Formats: sequence, structure tokens, C-alpha cells
Amino acid sequence: MNSELVSPGRGINADVCVIIPAAGSGVRLGEPVPKAFVDLDGRTILQRCVDQVADLGARIVVVVPADLVDRAREQLAADVVVVAGGDHRSDSVRAGLAAAGEAEIVLVHDAARPLTPVSVFDRVIGAVRSGYRAVIPGVPVADTLKEVEPISGHTDSDAGDLPVVTRTVDRESLRAIQTPQGFTREALTAAHADDSGVATDDAGLAERIGIDVHIVEGDQMAMKITTSWDLRLMRQLLSTEAHS
Ligand code: CTP
Ligand code: MG
Repeated sequence: MNSELVSPGRGINADVCVIIPAAGSGVRLGEPVPKAFVDLDGRTILQRCVDQVADLGARIVVVVPADLVDRAREQLAADVVVVAGGDHRSDSVRAGLAAAGEAEIVLVHDAARPLTPVSVFDRVIGAVRSGYRAVIPGVPVADTLKEVEPISGHTDSDAGDLPVVTRTVDRESLRAIQTPQGFTREALTAAHADDSGVATDDAGLAERIGIDVHIVEGDQMAMKITTSWDLRLMRQLLSTEAHS
């Protein structure tokens, strides 16, 4: 066996479930099919996601639009659990959580990040296993970040109504957050027990109920496909890798 293909610790993740929310419609991407079903160099975005995590030995639950459940089952391996999602991302995560089986550690990983290396999963799982209840991958922010006021007529110029900077944010204390986000099953269940608040990720829900959320190192390859520009970049990246 080629030892490079199997990293230490693989195969011991029987207590882990990876939920892949893929039930969004991909409005900002603007393709004729929902984002997870868009082709990315011969495989759909969702197939790539599932293939990336296959070696973990974890239970995999994918959450897709209700009318695409059958198609997803045809496209994915038989041991991948496929369930229908809901109107909001958090509804889809809850549907996935209901199908998580006996798992004590649950990761939520957006289908929109299909090239996320398995090493990021290993770091997140390792940290949850060592006792942290909520663990998310993050990367430093490269750009200078400024807070701006929406266009409001608040300006010291007659030139027009461009947004105005109110302050420069300290970049050193910021991280751009990716997925997979990992939790003890108990923490994720508690975070999703109240669906009244708005959060763009699962850790945000955990923070709201006072759970400490910890950061491990993310990876640039965990980049997210949101717009057609992101998809173009990723296709370019894959074709460059294929020829290198
Ligand atoms: N998602 C989901 N169920 C929803 C909405 C989103 O499972 N009701 C999933 C998406 O499929 C995606 C992830 O959550 O993998 C992150 O969402 P996002 O990037 O916003 O994807 P979409 O909602 O599909 O895109 P858009 O907001 O542009 O429509
Ligand atoms: Mg969305």
C-alpha cells in the first residue's frame, strides 16, 4: 500500500458524521442547475466534496433540494446518506443532523468548498476529539479592512454619495472562516435548538448560546464558490494542476 495515500489516524472516525449542506439554489452563481450539481471538470461540485472526505471513514450525510434527492443518490456511492433540505441553510443542517446516526462528533461542510483538503478535516476532528466543543478553520485576512457607512448623504464633499470610511479594522485579530465546522453532537444540537436568530454559519449559532468556538488553521484550497468568478478560478486551478 502507498503510505502517502493513507494518513495516520484514518479509519478511526466511526464516531464522526460529516453533514454536507448542498440544498441551496446557487442564485449568485447563476447556473441553470443548483450550485452543488454544477460540473467541475468531470464531476459535480457535490461529488468532488464527497470524494474529498471518503477516506475519513466517517458517516457522510448530504442534504440536497427535495427534487434532486434521487439524482444525488444515483450520482453518489451507496453508503452516502441523502436527505432533502429546507428553505434556509440552517433548516438543511437540521435535516442533516436528524440523519447523523450515532455520531458523537458532527462536522458541517458546505458543498460550495469542494477542494477542501482532508488535512483540514483531520485538524477539526482532532481538536473536537481532544475536548473542544466547537472548532472552526480560519485563515488570516490579507486585505486591509475598513468599516464603511452606507450611502446616506453623510459626506464632507459635494462630489457625490460614495460610501464613507468610519474606521480601519485591526486585521491581526481577524480570521476568514471556512468549513468544515466541527462540534460535539451535543453542542451542535443545542446551537440549532433555537432557529429564531440569523447566523451565516453554525458556529455563529453556537456563539449565540455561549459556547466557546475555537480556531484551527484553515487552507486556501478550502475557498468557496459563490459567484461565476469563483467557479472560473477553480476550473482554471484544476486545469493548471492537471497539466503540471
Ligand atoms: N444550503 C443548503 N440549504 C439552503 C441554502 C444553502 O443546504 N436552503 C447550502 C448550499 O448548498 C451551500 C452552503 O449551504 O453548499 C452555503 O450556502 P451558499 O454558498 O449561500 O449557497 P447557495 O445558497 O446555494 O447560493 P446563493 O446564496 O447564491 O443562492
Ligand atoms: Mg445562500
